[in-house]
Amino acid sequence: MGIAKRLCRIAGVMVMSFGVFLASAFAQEKQVMVYSHRHYEADQKLYDRFTAKTGIKVTVLKGDADQLIQRIKAEGSASRADILMTADIGRLWYAQSLGLLQAVSSKALDAIPAQLREPRGYWFGLTKRARVMVYDTSRFSQPPLVNYEDVARPEFAGKVLVRSSGNVYNISLIAGLMERWGEKKTGEWIKGLSANLARTPKGGDRDQIKAMVAGEGTVAITNTYYIIQMLQSQDAAERELAKRIGVIFPDQQGKGTHINISGAGICVSSPNRTQAILLLEFLASREAQEVFAAENGEYPVIRGVELSPILASWGIFKEDALSLDRLGVNSARALELADANGWK
Ligand SMILES: [Fe+2]
Repeated sequence: MGIAKRLCRIAGVMVMSFGVFLASAFAQEKQVMVYSHRHYEADQKLYDRFTAKTGIKVTVLKGDADQLIQRIKAEGSASRADILMTADIGRLWYAQSLGLLQAVSSKALDAIPAQLREPRGYWFGLTKRARVMVYDTSRFSQPPLVNYEDVARPEFAGKVLVRSSGNVYNISLIAGLMERWGEKKTGEWIKGLSANLARTPKGGDRDQIKAMVAGEGTVAITNTYYIIQMLQSQDAAERELAKRIGVIFPDQQGKGTHINISGAGICVSSPNRTQAILLLEFLASREAQEVFAAENGEYPVIRGVELSPILASWGIFKEDALSLDRLGVNSARALELADANGWK
């Protein structure tokens, strides 16, 4: 082979290698891996929109939040997880406490109210859910109770439906009540509630609502979006049942109704940090917040986003303004209190 030909060949190989290098750099740049506890069609719709806008591909690994957290931990620095997304504050706080999340700062994410995000940017609330009480409007013309305290009163013996205390939504609720009432009163409340249960806790929030409407109890404790999901169900019978539900936002004269979030944080070993932040910013944008509200019945975290017609029909309510960080801090003690006071 002549020298000129050889040079050409080397140059060709170099160009090709550079091309491969560029392609892999490009591929690395244009993707985000989300480990998510959420399982909603609305989320996929938003990921697709984000990809259409930015060219950044979103891959989702769905699973139970605790399992995803253990996986990120086991994967260590080799983890491909860019974002951990959970359906409650407790699991985000726990992931942060294990050192699995990293702080990020972003002007767009600062639009989320301070109590709904970690002060240094370790996690951000992306939607809100209120933990309310529901009753059957075909049996009661007026709400049979008004505050969280009421479910522990003797007159509600055998009438209260709520899922197990080990569920994160209830741990966060107890953790929030501990902040306003202190441990002693919260423990007494749990004892009263446990004594009033219509049945041994089983199933999720939606199962409590269905049991209540079926007459097993008078009041059920649930997150708000489950009511909306029932109202929007494909199943006509479920939609009919849901129409009878009356919603009580507890503690309107006091600290306000307990609020939890579905939220996300950037994983400590995120290979695509910049793209991951862009995705969180998109999910906190007005456009995405409207989808969460309209399709999933969740409350938006940013101001000025229109509520879905059903959420709007329930009216404005007073939310507990507690910094959600406190729910994580109190979570271990909250579970101990539940165990000690008989809430299975
Ligand atoms: Fe849920």
